Amino acid sequence: MQVFERVPELRAFLSPLRAGRVVFVPTMGFLHEGHLALMRRARDHGATVVSSIFVNPAQFGPNEDLSRYPRDLEGDLRKCKDSAVDAVFLPSVEVMYPAGHHTTISVGELSVPLCGRSRPIHFAGVCTVVAKLFNIVGCDVAIFGEKDFQQLAVIRQMVKDLDYPLEVVGHPIVREPDGLAMSSRNVNLTPRQRAASTSLSRGLAAAREAFERGEREPRLLESIVRHVVSSQPEGEVDYIELRDATDLSALDGPVSRSAVLAVAVRFGGTRLIDNTVLVGPLSRSRA
Ligand code: PAF
Repeated sequence: MQVFERVPELRAFLSPLRAGRVVFVPTMGFLHEGHLALMRRARDHGATVVSSIFVNPAQFGPNEDLSRYPRDLEGDLRKCKDSAVDAVFLPSVEVMYPAGHHTTISVGELSVPLCGRSRPIHFAGVCTVVAKLFNIVGCDVAIFGEKDFQQLAVIRQMVKDLDYPLEVVGHPIVREPDGLAMSSRNVNLTPRQRAASTSLSRGLAAAREAFERGEREPRLLESIVRHVVSSQPEGEVDYIELRDATDLSALDGPVSRSAVLAVAVRFGGTRLIDNTVLVGPLSRSRA
C-alpha cells in the first residue's frame, strides 16, 4: 500500500493504472467497520482502490466538533492495508486549501433541509472537498455510506450537474450489534449517552414495523420515532423527518413514493444521524 501526501505523486502512481477502473473511498479517518465495508466493496468495482483520510475543516461550522473529531492515523493506515487498499491520500489542510483558494461548490436546495438547517455551511464544505478529491483521484467509481443519506443525495446531484464521468455507489448502513449506526463520533459518547444512543435505531425500527403493517401517515411515522427517542433524557432531537428519498422534498400526504425517515439527535456535543429508507432504490438500508 502506498501513502501519498501530495497531488502530483498520487497522480503519477495512478497514471499507469487508469486502464483498469479506479475506485475511491473518501473518509475523514478514525476508521471503523463501516468504512472497511466500503473499502471491501470497492474491490468489487475495480482493479485499484484509493482511499483518502482528510478531516475537512470546510464542512464544520464555527461551534461544531472539528477540534474533538477523533484521529488515529497509525490505526487507520493499518486498517487500510488490511482492507487491501492500494493507495491512501493523506493531504494536509495546506495541500487541499492553499492560500488563495476561493472556490466553493454548493448544490442548492438539497442542502437546505434536514442537516442543512442546523449545519448551513456543511454541504458546501463537503461538495467542495469531494469535488476536489474527485479531480485529484480521477476515479471511475466512488463509494459512500448511506448513513449520511443527505450527503449521498447531494453528491449524486453534484456529480450529475457537473458531468463528473464517474459512478456513485451507496453502501448500506453498518451497525453495532445493539443497532447503533457506526460513526467515528460514537467514541465521544459518555457511557450514559452511548446507552441512550440506541434509541435512534430502535425508533426507526419501530416506525418501519408500523410502515410494514400498513401505516402511511408521515406525521404518525415520525411520532413513533420521536416517542422512542424522547423516552430517554440524554438526547436532544434536532430533527425527525419523513422525506422523499430521491429529492428530499417534504412528504405531506400518505407515503406513496420513495421515502426516507431521517433522524438527528444531539448527545451533549455529539450529534448522531441515522435513517431508514421505507420505499425506494436504497431500501436495503434497514434500521
Ligand atoms: O462522510 C465523510 O466522511 C465526509 O463527509 C467526506 C465525504 C469524506 C468528505 O469530507
